[in-house]
Amino acid sequence: MSAAYPIIDHEFDVIVVGAGGAGLRATLGMAGAGLSTACITKVFPTRSHTVAAQGGISAALGNMAKDDWRRHFYDTIKGADWLGDQDAIEYMCRSAIDAIIELEHFGVPFSRTPEGKIYQRPFGGMTTEYGEGPPAVRTCAAADRTGHAILHTLYTQSLKHNAQFFVEYFAIDLIMDEEGVCRGVMALCMDDGTIHRFRGHQVVLATGGYGRAYFSCTSAHTCTGDGGGMVLRAGLPLQDMEFVQFHPTGIYGAGCLITEGCRGEGGYLTNSEGERFMERYAPHAKDLASRDVVSRSMTIEIREGRGVGPKKDHIFLHLEHLDAEVIHARLPGIAETAKTFAGVDVTKEPIPVLPTCHYNMGGIPTNYHGEVVTIKGKNPDNVVPGLMAIGEAACVSVHGANRLGSNSLLDLVVFGRAAALRAKELVTPGMPHKTLAPGAGEFAIDRLDKIRYSSGSQPTSALREKMQRIMQTNCTVFREKGVLEEGVELLDKVHKEMGDLGISDRGLIWNSDLIEALELHNLMDQARLTIYGALNRKESRGAQAREDYPDRDDKNWMKHTVGWVDGKGKVKLDYRPVHTKTLTDEVKPVPPKARVY
Ligand code: SIN
Repeated sequence: MSAAYPIIDHEFDVIVVGAGGAGLRATLGMAGAGLSTACITKVFPTRSHTVAAQGGISAALGNMAKDDWRRHFYDTIKGADWLGDQDAIEYMCRSAIDAIIELEHFGVPFSRTPEGKIYQRPFGGMTTEYGEGPPAVRTCAAADRTGHAILHTLYTQSLKHNAQFFVEYFAIDLIMDEEGVCRGVMALCMDDGTIHRFRGHQVVLATGGYGRAYFSCTSAHTCTGDGGGMVLRAGLPLQDMEFVQFHPTGIYGAGCLITEGCRGEGGYLTNSEGERFMERYAPHAKDLASRDVVSRSMTIEIREGRGVGPKKDHIFLHLEHLDAEVIHARLPGIAETAKTFAGVDVTKEPIPVLPTCHYNMGGIPTNYHGEVVTIKGKNPDNVVPGLMAIGEAACVSVHGANRLGSNSLLDLVVFGRAAALRAKELVTPGMPHKTLAPGAGEFAIDRLDKIRYSSGSQPTSALREKMQRIMQTNCTVFREKGVLEEGVELLDKVHKEMGDLGISDRGLIWNSDLIEALELHNLMDQARLTIYGALNRKESRGAQAREDYPDRDDKNWMKHTVGWVDGKGKVKLDYRPVHTKTLTDEVKPVPPKARVY
C-alpha cells in the first residue's frame, strides 16, 4: 500500500453507504437490532435526495375510500408493464400499510383528514377495482414535502440508536475477496483528506440513482450512482438500466420537480389550443395515467406543433382553478418553487412544464431481502455474500419498466427495513472478521491516485456535459435505432476521452475537482449501460418507447437485462428471468395483458 496514503481502519458488524430514506431506515433497523453499524454518507443525512420527494408515499390504508393492498399490487405490476418481480411487489405492497403506521409512530407529520386520519391523495396509475374503477386515493402525504418529513424523522430516529455516522465521506470502491465475498468499503474523508478502510459483514449500498447522467433532471447534483459504479468495478452487473423515468412535470428550463400530487389534487395539462389532451391518450385515467404514458403524450403534442410558449416547446399545468386554500394547505412547496423558478403565481397562471429525467428503474439487482444477486452458472438469482443494495440504487425489481409515483418512498422504507431484518439473521453482533488479504483496498487507492494526478486537457465539467447532452438527445422519452446507435457511438467516444481528463487540484482536502471526477466515472459506466440496453431491447415497454418497435413483445423480451462493464470499458449484456410467481397464495400472479389507462 502506498505510503502516501496512510489508512485508518474501522470494523463494524454492518456498513450502510448512503443516508437517504433507504440508508437511514436500514441504519436504524440494524443499530436497533444490536449490530454495530456505520453509516457512511457524502452529504449530511438530511441533505440526501429523499428530501426532495414531494407528493407522497403509497399504501392501501383506505383512509379516504375503500382500498386493498392487492389492488396496489395489481396496479404496480401493470405500471411496471410486467417487468416487475411479482414476489417482490407482493412483499412491498403488503408491507406498505405497516410501514406507514411505523412512520407515523416514528413521528412523521403527515397531513390529516378532518377526522384526524392520515391524508391521502390520488396519484397516477393507482386505481380501484383492478383498473376498472375511479382513481384510488392511496398516496399518503405531508403536504408536498413528504420526503422532507420522512427523511428528517428517520434521521432523528437513527440518532436514538448507537449507529456511527461518517458524514462527508466519499465511498470509493468495495473490498471484494478472491471468493467474491464483499468484505467492506474504502472511503475518502472529504473534510481532512484521510483514507478509511471499513470492514463489515454486510455492506449495504443505499447510494441513490444516477439521474445526473442526463442534462435536465429532477435529481440533486449528488445523484451520481456511486453504488452502481462500485458494483460494476467489482465485476458485478447492473439490471434494466434502459428504463429511465421521465417525470411529466419538471419546470420548463430549470427542470425542478412539480409534484404529480398537483394532478392528484385536480390540476390538469393543456396544449397550445387550450385542450386537455390527456383525454385523448388515456380516456379513463386522463391526467392521472402513469408517468410514461403522460410524458409520451406531452412529447407527441409538442412534436405535432401543439406545444405552448414562443417556441411551442412545452406544456401548461393548471392549478389556478383550485381553491387557494387547497394550494396553501396541500401544495405550498410547489407554489414557492413555481414562483422562484418559473416566475409564476400558481393561483393565477399555469406552470410551464416539460418531461424531465426523474428516476432510474434499473440498478443493482437484488432479491426482496435486499441481497445483491448475480448470474452464476445456471442460477440467475445467485446471492453475492456480504453485499446488499436498497432504494433507487437497487433494482429489486418492484418498478419493472415504469415506476408508479409514490412507490419510491415506499420502496425506500420497505426494503431498508427488509435489509435490516436480513442482516439481523445473517450477522451476530461482534462476530469476528476474516483476515483481509494483503493489499485489500489497494485497488481503490490506485484508482484514486490515478484520477487525482490525471493531467489531460479536458476538465470533468466538459466531459460530463458531453455525456449529459448525448443522453438527453439520444436516449430520451422516445427512442429509435438510428438515434440510439449514434448515441452509443458518441458516448463511447466520450468514454475514450476520459483518458484525457485533467484535474487541476492535487490536494485531498475538500477537493471537489477530484470528487466530481470520481462521480463522473460512476456516471459514465451507467450512462453507457443505459443506452446500450435501450438499443439492445427491441420492443416498447414502460419507459422504453421504441418508435421502430412500438409494441411490447412478451415472448422475446419479458426478461431483465443485466449488463457488465469490464476494466477496459467493454459492455456485455445478458438476461435474468422475471419472477412471475407470488410469495403467497393470498394474491394470484397477474398475467400480462394490454396496458391501457
Ligand atoms: C412526485 O411527487 O411527483 C414525485 C414523487 C415520486 O416520484 O414518487
